[in-house]
Amino acid sequence: MRVLVTWASKRGGTAGIAAMIAEALRAGGLDVTAIPVEQVTALDGFDAIVIGGALYANLWPWRARRFVNRHIDVLRTKPVWLFSSGPLDASADTTEIPPAPVVSVLAERVGAIGHATFGGRLEPAAKGFPAGAMAKSHSGDWRNADRIHAWATAIAAALPGARPGQAIERPAHSLRCLLWRPVMGWAMCATLMMLLLTALPLGWALAIHAISAPVIFTMIACAYFSNRGAREPLPTAIVWTTIVIALDAIVIAGLVQRSAAMFASIPGTWLPFLLIFVAVWATGAIMSMLPQPRSATA
Ligand SMILES: Cc1cc2nc3c(=O)[nH]c(=O)nc-3n(C[C@H](O)[C@H](O)[C@H](O)COP(=O)(O)O)c2cc1C
Repeated sequence: MRVLVTWASKRGGTAGIAAMIAEALRAGGLDVTAIPVEQVTALDGFDAIVIGGALYANLWPWRARRFVNRHIDVLRTKPVWLFSSGPLDASADTTEIPPAPVVSVLAERVGAIGHATFGGRLEPAAKGFPAGAMAKSHSGDWRNADRIHAWATAIAAALPGARPGQAIERPAHSLRCLLWRPVMGWAMCATLMMLLLTALPLGWALAIHAISAPVIFTMIACAYFSNRGAREPLPTAIVWTTIVIALDAIVIAGLVQRSAAMFASIPGTWLPFLLIFVAVWATGAIMSMLPQPRSATA
């Protein structure tokens, strides 16, 4: 069987892990090609793919993400394993570190069979900012050859019968899924407010709007958090509320009213913002405690 081991590395540490994986796979009797992602032109002819990326600010390098996105259709037809190299301490050896959010989206999109986080490496003489500054306190080589070897050996053992994993086209963890829902909620609230203002005095319209906004966002949050891969309740509430405030500032205050006067009204703006924040956070927190499995669509 032919296996491609490919990686994106900035300072060579991840390349070293990929070399150890390739060696272990070869020892398991597999025909292995080990090249960085930028040198991969086609995936035809490979029976399985192992993709690795160095973690920088919880992200894989852009090259690695582009590689996965470019080859997504072919990757879905093959058994795929992912690995990340990162922690500059022993944590990767003492606990199973889950994939970083962006990596977990990639894993779901390709239907990766497995993911491992291995300890990373930062040389004391690392150049550039902020690596140079980090190296003063965090340099070291935390790549555990035994663990890497064991992981690759398990892949070699699993490969003869391995099937492509279940790919999920749009996991709720994607940025798009996170961002379009508050825009939709904001549009619903704005439309409701316009209708209320045509039929009711301002005070009544503001009161009904202040009650309706969290109800609307609770329904939207229910739909969001019931999907597989939804983000944590607190960051979601912060992002959604920030988007609502930004849209109010740009569209309503900036384009429609051409005045920021609406932000002087606590019941008219700040109370609904607060209630939206609480509604999203509470909905996420409550739903994360519910035992039922999340659906696979976003
Ligand atoms: C600026 C900087 C940011 C980093 N951010 C993370 C991080 O978010 N998570 C992590 O686990 N490791 C982080 N690391 C550690 C690197 O992932 C680790 O050094 C890795 O082995 C580097 O791989 P490379 O040598 O292939 O580039 C960071 C290192 C640097 C220098």
